[in-house]
Amino acid sequence: MNYRNSFTGFLLLLATTLSQAQSPAPGPIPMPQSMVMKDGHFTIDAGTVLVYSDEAAGKKAVLFADYIAKNHGLILSKEKGKKDNGKNSIYFFNEPGKNSKDESYKLTVKPGSITVSGNETGLFYAVQTMMQLVQRDNGMVSIGSVEITDQPRYAYRGIMQDVGYHIYPVSFIKSQIEMLAKYKMNVYHWHLTEDHGWRIEIKKYPKLTSVGAYRAGSQVSHYVDSLSGIDHIPYGGFYTQEEIRDIVAFAKERHVMVIPEIELPGHSVAALAAYPELACGDNPGPFKVAEQWGIYDDVYCAGKENTFTFLENVLTEVMELFPSEYIHIGGDECPKERWKACKYCQKRIRDKKLKDEFELQSYFVKRIEKFVNSKGRKIIGWDEILEGGLAPNAAVMSWRNIDEGVKAARQRHDVVMAPQTHVYFDFLQDERKQEPLAIGWGYNPIEKVYAFDPTPASLTEEERKHVIGVEAPIWTEHMDTYRKVEYMLYPRLMALAEIAWTRPEKKDSVNFFECRLPLHLSELDKTGILYRVPGPIGVKDTTLYGAEFRVEMKPPVSGAKIYYNFEGQDARETDFLYEKPVHIILRKGERREVKAVVVTPSGKRSINTTMFFINP
Ligand code: ACM
Ligand code: ZN
Repeated sequence: MNYRNSFTGFLLLLATTLSQAQSPAPGPIPMPQSMVMKDGHFTIDAGTVLVYSDEAAGKKAVLFADYIAKNHGLILSKEKGKKDNGKNSIYFFNEPGKNSKDESYKLTVKPGSITVSGNETGLFYAVQTMMQLVQRDNGMVSIGSVEITDQPRYAYRGIMQDVGYHIYPVSFIKSQIEMLAKYKMNVYHWHLTEDHGWRIEIKKYPKLTSVGAYRAGSQVSHYVDSLSGIDHIPYGGFYTQEEIRDIVAFAKERHVMVIPEIELPGHSVAALAAYPELACGDNPGPFKVAEQWGIYDDVYCAGKENTFTFLENVLTEVMELFPSEYIHIGGDECPKERWKACKYCQKRIRDKKLKDEFELQSYFVKRIEKFVNSKGRKIIGWDEILEGGLAPNAAVMSWRNIDEGVKAARQRHDVVMAPQTHVYFDFLQDERKQEPLAIGWGYNPIEKVYAFDPTPASLTEEERKHVIGVEAPIWTEHMDTYRKVEYMLYPRLMALAEIAWTRPEKKDSVNFFECRLPLHLSELDKTGILYRVPGPIGVKDTTLYGAEFRVEMKPPVSGAKIYYNFEGQDARETDFLYEKPVHIILRKGERREVKAVVVTPSGKRSINTTMFFINP
């Protein structure tokens, strides 16, 4: 980890941002495109009436009323009607004439009234913003006067949750979807099949779950340490079609689209364990559901017709369950070894006059695309689907790097940016020795996520239109509990939401990290959701040289405390409580080590930040 900086000559550590610090005002995440604060405020009290223009607007009014009742104990009355009823009212105006893909809204808060307008989606996002703006002061509930005009930068704002390596309860999936909605994210890409487990009930092929959903053990050691770690404890599970319908409906109410991923042609060992005849050659198998993390050579045979019959039947059931425009078909990391040795695959190459196995993969994906298109849907796949020729209508999820996305956009294909270099949430958030076990050594701290611009500057104006959004994949080899998923997801999700929604010129990292995020985290701290507590604001692991220093820190969670010591031991509540800048004086040849930790109101802790001060 290239994280420890070492530089000389400064007497003062930090201070860059503290001088600009403002008194924290509640601020939405993601930041709206236009938000003009005005004088005064609208008071929400028992006399406030929610007025709505039609039933659709009424549903959004109910959302806001429920929030106020739950959090502030006020029961607000509702009525269908028009503006200017002479009361202290909040008006919800549905604009049904707007395109359903239009997610914009307008929110005007004045001392006497609040007006909200948009189509159903716009109103939903307006309510999310309003909920984030509500203040409580001495028992008075209010929203400061403000004029907001807002719409997202990207149409596609997602995370990908892998449930193949590990599986999580329905209640957890729903809690993630709720958090997505709160932060105006609109895609839950659900990775449902893996070498290590098939997680979706398919009625026509019951063995996919009775066999393919269970493995005999799981790798418990680090990904690269393959020798020391299978636990030999049976593991598995799947989601029934009833559970899936429930989740899809739950997400729809929150304006989140669930996009299913059925991996092909690779990452298919669990399916082959259930139906070995779908693999290459005569009498293939037996196969067992994979236990060790990694990539497997056994993949669907591209030469046998029954592979395509099987996949079309599976996809037919999948499309009945998921109404999404896109169906994700995987396409990544498909070894070609078995195809090279398979008489059926080689015959297919000859018959179709394909150049090699890469073109065979392209044939495979194009054939599946044709089927999916015939049902009125589109495919999206990982960027390897570019190899051997891209399917004509496919969208590309650029994961290996940014350049694959650039290539696809230049070919006029839609692209979702999900580069591992910036937004893989299975990557580390700090030094490996202080963090939960993570995949490889990839390093994507929240600052890096926030700094990422998903639209590469090298694209022309026309090509840029093909970058439809951004997504953070969460692969779960090392996430055997949902708690760990939460740790990896929050608060990086908030940074992702801002790059997905807010135009880059409106982004403000000081305001995000020092004003808004601390307030959002203090709210999150009151819930049952786990999150990674950032280190103290203003300092980082570092070595500084000089004779005198003033160390200034701010809590990254409003209301949290910072403790520090000079002992070299990890800091804890027994140490100094940070109340004012720490003054450090060093004689020639002396050194001092300062360690600091954040403890939140609920008792959650950051990892330690360590600073060395040396007077050489
Ligand atoms: C991937 O991370 N293999 C898409
Ligand atoms: Zn084959």
